[in-house]
Amino acid sequence: MPEQAEATRATILVVDDNEANRSLARNALEDEGYRVVLAASGEEGVAAFEREHPDCVLLDVRMPGMDGFTACERIRALPGGDRAPILFLTALRDVDTFDRALRAGGSDFITKPVRPTELIVRIQTALQLWRVSAELRQHYDLLRHQRDDLLRLQLQKERLMAFVVHDLKNPVNSMDLNAQVLLRDKTLSEGSRGAAMQVRTEARQLARMILNLLDISKADEGKLAPRHAELDPQAMVSEILAELDVAAKSRKVTLRSTVEPGSVRVDPDLFRRTLANLVENAIRYAPAETAVTVTFTRAGGDIEVRIADAGRGILPELREKVFDPFVQGDAAGDAGMAPGGRGLGLTFCRLAVEAHAGRIWVEDASPGAVFCVRLPHGL
Ligand SMILES: Nc1ncnc2c1ncn2[C@@H]1O[C@H](COP(=O)(O)OP(=O)(O)OP(=O)(O)O)[C@@H](O)[C@H]1O
Ligand SMILES: [Mg+2]
Repeated sequence: MPEQAEATRATILVVDDNEANRSLARNALEDEGYRVVLAASGEEGVAAFEREHPDCVLLDVRMPGMDGFTACERIRALPGGDRAPILFLTALRDVDTFDRALRAGGSDFITKPVRPTELIVRIQTALQLWRVSAELRQHYDLLRHQRDDLLRLQLQKERLMAFVVHDLKNPVNSMDLNAQVLLRDKTLSEGSRGAAMQVRTEARQLARMILNLLDISKADEGKLAPRHAELDPQAMVSEILAELDVAAKSRKVTLRSTVEPGSVRVDPDLFRRTLANLVENAIRYAPAETAVTVTFTRAGGDIEVRIADAGRGILPELREKVFDPFVQGDAAGDAGMAPGGRGLGLTFCRLAVEAHAGRIWVEDASPGAVFCVRLPHGL
């Protein structure tokens, strides 16, 4: 008895109405160490399959009563009926028989008269193939589960994003508006005025983070397309600096700008928020009594904006990484600022700049960092 068959000792169900064929198959298979179960009709074969859970079935096609094709279909319909290869034994070697065998759920077919060696080789091959395809099926099922989980996560993320837009953006904007209403009240005490200004700064910071998050998610889905419009960079830079003035003053940081005149065509919202994120970072890391400068120049078809501070700068090994999501340096530089963000500001900037077919990078100013944005000016 060969070792390999002994080790596995697979069970083979032989279904044939002809006694001589059954014994021939039994002798050949038992000689190879297989366990053999015999059935003399289609009906008996289906019952034996249910009872014995064989590893392989040899099924005669032409039998009185239930023929091999029907028996095969019945077996395949049983619970666990797809767990074994089924090989048809047939005297008819033609395409129709082959097609019917496959349609019924058969794995292969062997033409009679069957030679014992051929029978053994075909069964071994069928068992091997079956094992491999079972493994593949398992891998496939695993992959399908993982894909379904990912899809579920993606849908949850989309729901969360919808929540962020509708339920967070509006109240944050209304906080800012209400603080502005308070500030119009001339009788407000100095302390309350300071508090209202602080509410405005923080509401704006929150709004900026919410919009960053939204645009990052849009870019992930390939939906962050810039909507170009002509604008005056001088006015835009002044507006950004005015908005961040309170934050800068509370850090004792001076804001300066030099802007080359002339209009540009970019997405006004994405461009303004890119610069606002960079200036806000610069203010956060600039030491007291230093300046943050915004320089806007043109070179050929491009515009270049440089935002420089005299803070701790960015370590060389982090100069690419800081643009990745959720990357934050140590919190030392944040002291005194309104509650810090989540490391999404620069990620948004890079996506917004790339959506304009531009480039963003950081240089070393020893001391400090210079964040540089270069884009086609679109005119
Ligand atoms: N001008 C700067 N000087 C020194 N470090 C900086 C500067 N700008 C950014 N960084 C570093 O890069 C990190 C990532 O910046 P990014 O703007 O993406 O996130 P954040 O400011 O921490 O949070 P968010 O912008 O989401 O509110 C910061 O945490 C900080 O460590
Ligand atoms: Mg930031």
